[in-house]
Order: sequence, then C-alpha cells, then structure tokens
Amino acid sequence: MTQNFRWGLIGPGNIATRFAESLNFVEGTSLYAVASRDIKRATKFGEKFGARQCYQNYQALCEDPHVDAIYIATPHRFHFEQAHTCLTAKKPVLCEKPFTVNAREHQILVDLATQNQVFMMEAMWTLFLPTYRQIHHWLKEETIGDTKLLQSSFGFVAQRNPVGRLFNHELAGGTLLDMGVYNVAISQWLLKKPLKDVLAHAYIGATGVDETISVSMNFGDGVFSQFFSSFHSQLPNNFIVNGSKGSICIGKDFWGAEKVQLKIGNNIETLSFPFRGRGFEYEIEHAIACIQEEKTESNIMSHEATQSNMKIMDSIRQQIGLRYCFE
Ligand SMILES: NC(=O)c1ccc[n+]([C@@H]2O[C@H](COP(=O)([O-])OP(=O)(O)OC[C@H]3O[C@@H](n4cnc5c(N)ncnc54)[C@H](OP(=O)(O)O)[C@@H]3O)[C@@H](O)[C@H]2O)c1
Repeated sequence: MTQNFRWGLIGPGNIATRFAESLNFVEGTSLYAVASRDIKRATKFGEKFGARQCYQNYQALCEDPHVDAIYIATPHRFHFEQAHTCLTAKKPVLCEKPFTVNAREHQILVDLATQNQVFMMEAMWTLFLPTYRQIHHWLKEETIGDTKLLQSSFGFVAQRNPVGRLFNHELAGGTLLDMGVYNVAISQWLLKKPLKDVLAHAYIGATGVDETISVSMNFGDGVFSQFFSSFHSQLPNNFIVNGSKGSICIGKDFWGAEKVQLKIGNNIETLSFPFRGRGFEYEIEHAIACIQEEKTESNIMSHEATQSNMKIMDSIRQQIGLRYCFE
C-alpha cells in the first residue's frame, strides 16, 4: 500500500464518523477532505479527524486533484446523484448501502463507471469482516452440508424523529432499504444462486414507508431465505444458516458480527473475531487495494451482486406497493 491514500468524504453525519474512526486502523491512508452543504459542519468534522481540506459543496471535492477516492455517507436518496458527480469526475467511489434507491439508478452508475474506467463499490462492510471470512471457509469446506434454509431478522424500536431519515418518505426511508438490504445481500452472498421468486408483506405507516416487512425468498430446489425487518420490535438480529449436516448462527447483530456459532449434531463451537478498529477498516482496505490495482469493481461486492440485490428489493417494493415520490 502506498503511503497516504487520501479519502474525500461526502456527508459528515452519523455513519461518516465511524468511517473516519476506522481509517485510523488502516495503514497508509487518511481522511484528506470533507464536503458538506454546510461549511461549518464540514470544518467541525474535518478538524476532529485531521482533514486538510473542507468544502461547502460536493462538486469542489470531486474536482480536488489530491483526492484518491470518495466515500458517500448521505441518505439513500442522494447516492445516485452524488456518485454520478464523482464518477463523472473520474473519482473512485465507495458508497453507503443501499447503493441507490432502485436497480435502474444503479445500472446507470455501472455503465458510467465502466465507461470512465473508475472503481465503485457499495459499502457492504459485513462481507469483509473476519467473521464472514470464517463463514466463507466453512461453506467452501461444506462443513454444514448443503445450505438449505436461512432465517434472519433486523429490528429495533425506532424513535419517530421528524427530521431523521428512517420514517421519511422523501429520503427513501423504511426498513427494507435501510436494514433489509443486509438480509437480502447476505442471503445472496451465502447462496450464490439466482432468486426464483419472492413473497413480501409489509406494514406501511402514516409517512408512507415500510415500518415492518416480512419476506420469503425462494431460490429453488428447496432453498429459502426468510426475514423480518422492523422499526417496531427489538428482534433477535441474528442470521441462521441451516444446512443438511449442521447450522451456523451469525450474531448477535449479524451485519456487524464479531461472533459466530457452528453447530454440528450436539457439538456447539463459538468463535470470536473482534474488530481491529471500528469495523469499516476491512472494507476500506479492500477498496484501496482494488483502486491501487486499477480494478473497476470488487470481486466480493461486485456490480452484479449490488444489481441483483437492488432488483430483489425492487420486486419486494413492487409487491408491497412502495414507490417513492421522487421515483
Ligand atoms: N454501514 C452502516 O453500518 C450504516 C449505518 C448507518 C447508516 N448507513 C447508511 O449511511 C447513509 C447515511 O446515514 P446517516 O445516518 O449517517 O445519515 P445522516 O447522519 O442523517 O446524514 C448524513 C449527511 O447526509 C446529508 N443529509 C442528511 N439529511 C439530508 C437532507 N434532508 N437533504 C440533503 N442532505 C442530507 C448531510 O450532509 P451535509 O453535511 O452535506 O448537509 C448529512 O451530514 C445511509 O444511506 C445509511 O443507509 C450505514
């Protein structure tokens, strides 16, 4: 890794903090620049994390020749436009999940990245965690036999904050795009099979977003993945992978799991994989390596993987009748 790979950041809010903290656990990289609509917010964040440049618009960040890559950390609705601006300026992009609001937007970005030969990846940090490397190893070795039935949940009691993004229709709120995206992505990553069909039910609340959703994905040959995501209940938040010889239980909080349990017959083994830092360091390392190797996409979170997840979420939203006002 070259010394000082320089990150630019769009949207210095909640999750951007975790990204900036994680950078301290990756050698040879730093936060170089921050862009916000509000220069005071950019400056405050930039000072806290030692950024050298602060911009009050995103275009200026994209035009800075010293920026090696840009991390996008704004609400979902804005990812498409901001990633488009970055890719047009030929800046590599690591964009928070969900990459876009729908598959159509994502495909436009894939085409642009391909045309401009620029790297882009959805920041699906989960897949880069040490816990998931262990799971990958077990699946490769067929430790639990044929993987058949997956069951997972992602739920908590969410506060109805009128300025927050969770319940906000205009910001593409709702549980599916925010949390269910993990259940969908991990199911696809585990099974590596195309989906045959999906059945979804939802409770759409007063603000017009899905507040609870129940999904059953059918991958054919008796392979299913079921999940709940909800703003109404604290759920177990684990991910159980049942095979013909045993099972794997990922979690608690499967999307950021530091523990995983393997059960074969009556034998239960629990393994721990604590993060080196704040957890995003593994996806950051991977993105830097890809960019330095002049790749346009990741082999772990590929364009096809994101596109396929987006298509599944489009189908789910079609079934539950959730179309955002700006789509
Ligand atoms: N990977 C994970 O574990 C994880 C966890 C939580 C969230 N996320 C993802 O990260 C993204 C950001 O979530 P967050 O909770 O960090 O967001 P946030 O704190 O609410 O907002 C982050 C930034 O987005 C911009 N923004 C916020 N509301 C806006 C609005 N109404 N109009 C225009 N811009 C607005 C602001 O940028 P300016 O400063 O430029 O105004 C703000 O600083 C989401 O896509 C979410 O899915 C990922």
